[in-house]
Amino acid sequence: MNRSTPWPALPGIAFGGDYNPEQWPRDVWREDVALMREAGVNLVSIGIFSWALIETSEGVFDFSWLDEIIDLLHENGVAVDLGTPTASPPAWFFAAHPEARVVNRDGVVMGFGSRGMASPSSPAYREAIARIADALAARYADHPAVVLWHVHNEYGVPVGEDHSPQSAAAFRVWLQERYGDLDALNAAWGTAFWGQHYTDWRHVGTPAAAPSTVNPAQKLDFARFTDHQLRECFIIEREAIRAHAPQPITTNMMANQSWTTDLWAWGDEMDLVSDDHYLWAADPEAHIGLAIAADLTRSVGRGAPWMLMEHSTSAVNWQPRNIAKTPGEMARNAFSHLGRGADGILFFQWRAGRSGAEKFHSAMLPHAGTRSRVWREVVDLGEKLGRLGELRGSTVRADVAMLWDFESFWAQDLDWRPSCDVDHRDLVRRYYERLWRDGLTVDFVLPGDDLSAYPLVVAPAQYLLTAADAANLDEYVARGGTLLVSFFSAVVDEHDAVHPGGFLAPLHEALGVRVEEHLPLREGETAALRWQHDGPAIELPADVWQEDLDPIGAEVIARYAEGPAAGGAAITRNAHGAGTGWYVSTRLDAAALRPVLDAVYADAGLRATGMPEGVELVTRESAEADYLIAVNHTAEPVEIPVAGEELLTGTACTGTLALAAGGVAVVRAVPARAVRARETSRPDGAALSVP
Ligand code: GLA
Repeated sequence: MNRSTPWPALPGIAFGGDYNPEQWPRDVWREDVALMREAGVNLVSIGIFSWALIETSEGVFDFSWLDEIIDLLHENGVAVDLGTPTASPPAWFFAAHPEARVVNRDGVVMGFGSRGMASPSSPAYREAIARIADALAARYADHPAVVLWHVHNEYGVPVGEDHSPQSAAAFRVWLQERYGDLDALNAAWGTAFWGQHYTDWRHVGTPAAAPSTVNPAQKLDFARFTDHQLRECFIIEREAIRAHAPQPITTNMMANQSWTTDLWAWGDEMDLVSDDHYLWAADPEAHIGLAIAADLTRSVGRGAPWMLMEHSTSAVNWQPRNIAKTPGEMARNAFSHLGRGADGILFFQWRAGRSGAEKFHSAMLPHAGTRSRVWREVVDLGEKLGRLGELRGSTVRADVAMLWDFESFWAQDLDWRPSCDVDHRDLVRRYYERLWRDGLTVDFVLPGDDLSAYPLVVAPAQYLLTAADAANLDEYVARGGTLLVSFFSAVVDEHDAVHPGGFLAPLHEALGVRVEEHLPLREGETAALRWQHDGPAIELPADVWQEDLDPIGAEVIARYAEGPAAGGAAITRNAHGAGTGWYVSTRLDAAALRPVLDAVYADAGLRATGMPEGVELVTRESAEADYLIAVNHTAEPVEIPVAGEELLTGTACTGTLALAAGGVAVVRAVPARAVRARETSRPDGAALSVP
């Protein structure tokens, strides 16, 4: 896609949120725009759920209120990110096209009164979305307020899979295109198992509810098909808009919080990648999950600046316990996103809604009004972001690549795995957390990507690995890279069939180790291992999983001290060509991973920053300058070694920056690279530095 499109036509960092004027009378609109100016809001997303108020019956449009609000926003200096309202078709649409309703895997037809109820395979729905997108684009393409198009809302949420008759018919067409004939389908799905052999395409259906678990290859293909159907709907709308409008087009994803869409493929279709992110309140360190989401968003946009389309000023309303953000937490969240490449910081939503399902969701303007902490923090954030216009367009410098492959995650999430305790989300988080604590910035990548720019590639959970992707990883190591692979990886191919030669077979040469048997542990069971590498032996706690390993060339760096594999190899290191392949066959937490990763960093020529854990430092680079974005998630003040100008306060730092507990800072660092390379110390005295 055209990533060179300058977006949005705004000075500086975009700041604002979803705005729903249709829920309010006109006098509130006037108050809204006045308060937007006070808060420094320069962009709002409108129209996202307004289909019923724009197309009042099929083909009959009422643009009057939209004309009015877009003009009002424009007069007040607020640009518009115009939504297409296709995530919530009107009641008249479902009355006319009941077949467009989604059917879940249990055969239940999803009714009206919520949102996201339409089948992405429905011809009537596809016709209707093209019509409304076309009508909106034809009317507003030339409006000077409109700087961005916001297609739909969070594809795949709440509805992804659809088991309706029209979905089944489309699934058959998709399969015919993929496999050509039934022999190929039968082979790919392994239908000789449990007598599932097909002799007629008409007998092939969606993996709906069945007496026992459904064919995993069929389910995996259905996940691919679902993603494909949703993406086709996006493309229909995008093309309808593009026929009229020059502005960039995006759709708001849910990076690591939705698993229905293969965001790599979606990133390729958008002019600008955007993301919605909400903290998981039960996680005391939810800011690490936030960093994963931000890095993933940037990565699927292949490094281009992106937009945070939604986050919350305080609590959400849809978790079991909706915890309010603490003072300063909203700004820390916003600056983490900014540091990881966001050029726009937007919220759901501008004004808290009085009615409907989301009335307990926080907003920029809360129910309490402007005499509130949240409002004061919003105004302060707007003021701070207003000083950072020069960051726009700068890109993030990453140190390490981590594999993130939706197809593999979909496959791993299928039924009947060796242990319910093995979760790819958890494994990614553990490895990511170690890197985050060590101050190393992560780019997510696909296993088939060109990895040559990265000194280290981490594969926390690559259950599905195609032979071609394995060859790519093998070559990466042979040419001098350092690869770290965690257990239950390279188990199956693209059809969820175990690799010939056994688990891990396609990585045997890179890793120098075979996996004879998976040895999952019982619930709550722990089994330590003994690590010895460049120093005295230490015990590391581990749980969930062991493997019976057969080293075929790799050096054994740690052995199991306990458990079913006691005495056997637990962690191995293999010289392969000019590089090194590490294999970790059990689950370690971020603390236990520390000595392991320090050894891996040494092979890769990397070092941790040495900042106290919890101080987030990320660098964005432009042709003119390096920008160091610092976020202190700890309750202690810290000193950061950096020289340059702190842009939020306008003060010069000559070597160190004092960052308050919970504080944020942005330094135009000169010359940042040299300063970051300075030797610093961890609290335990180990000498560390960034290369
Ligand atoms: C999502 C949706 C919004 C809103 C928020 C609430 O991100 O896109 O419309 O429902 O969640 O957190």
